Amino acid sequence: MIIAIDGPAASGKGTLGKRLAQHYGFAHLDTGLLYRAVAHGLIGAGKPLTDEAGAAIVARKLAVETLDDETLRGAEMGAAASMVAAYPAVRAALVQLQRAFAARPEGAVLDGRDIGTVICPDAEVKLFVTATPEERARRRHNELSGRGDAISYDEVLADIRVRDDRDASRSVSPLKQAPDASLLDTTKMDIDAAFRAAVAIVDAASA
Ligand code: CDP
Repeated sequence: MIIAIDGPAASGKGTLGKRLAQHYGFAHLDTGLLYRAVAHGLIGAGKPLTDEAGAAIVARKLAVETLDDETLRGAEMGAAASMVAAYPAVRAALVQLQRAFAARPEGAVLDGRDIGTVICPDAEVKLFVTATPEERARRRHNELSGRGDAISYDEVLADIRVRDDRDASRSVSPLKQAPDASLLDTTKMDIDAAFRAAVAIVDAASA
């Protein structure tokens, strides 16, 4: 079974994806890490974020096993990721890797922006997870402060708005809810409530 989770920045997709994967014994891929790793690799090679061809070369060399969470999770890499994620050559380079992951025999949960629409349009379960920009900024600000990232709430909110706009308006694989996805608005839910709601949707789909 494939569970596709999409949604805007800091909506809780990653945490939800991880918990669902544990619950069902599935593999989990946070696809945002792929785009973060492309940006990180490009910067590490001394190339500008405007270098689409260079970004595609980095993307072709990525492997799921080498995604290093800690260096990629910061706010700066999130903003850089959303720039390289708009390049068609980068997205094309990452399609097969994501589909191969989705085909894992034990089942897979993938979270991102275009999983239900482009990467796995035939996924058995599709969730579109969202929350108000202010609530998402509050959660991400807590998370980043916990990591020691000195960024203000207002800066996080501004970054989220810019990224949401860029992700939703790009020409390739824009962020949007698949017509057959279940909408999960977690603005008033904590992670346990969101998890229970998601399990109810998955169980109903597989019954
Ligand atoms: O955790 P957060 O929602 O802040 O970001 P992320 O999921 O790690 O994604 C970082 C950036 O990568 C996003 O702003 C998107 O531009 C891009 N992305 C994408 O285009 N497609 C995906 N499937 C996943 C991420």
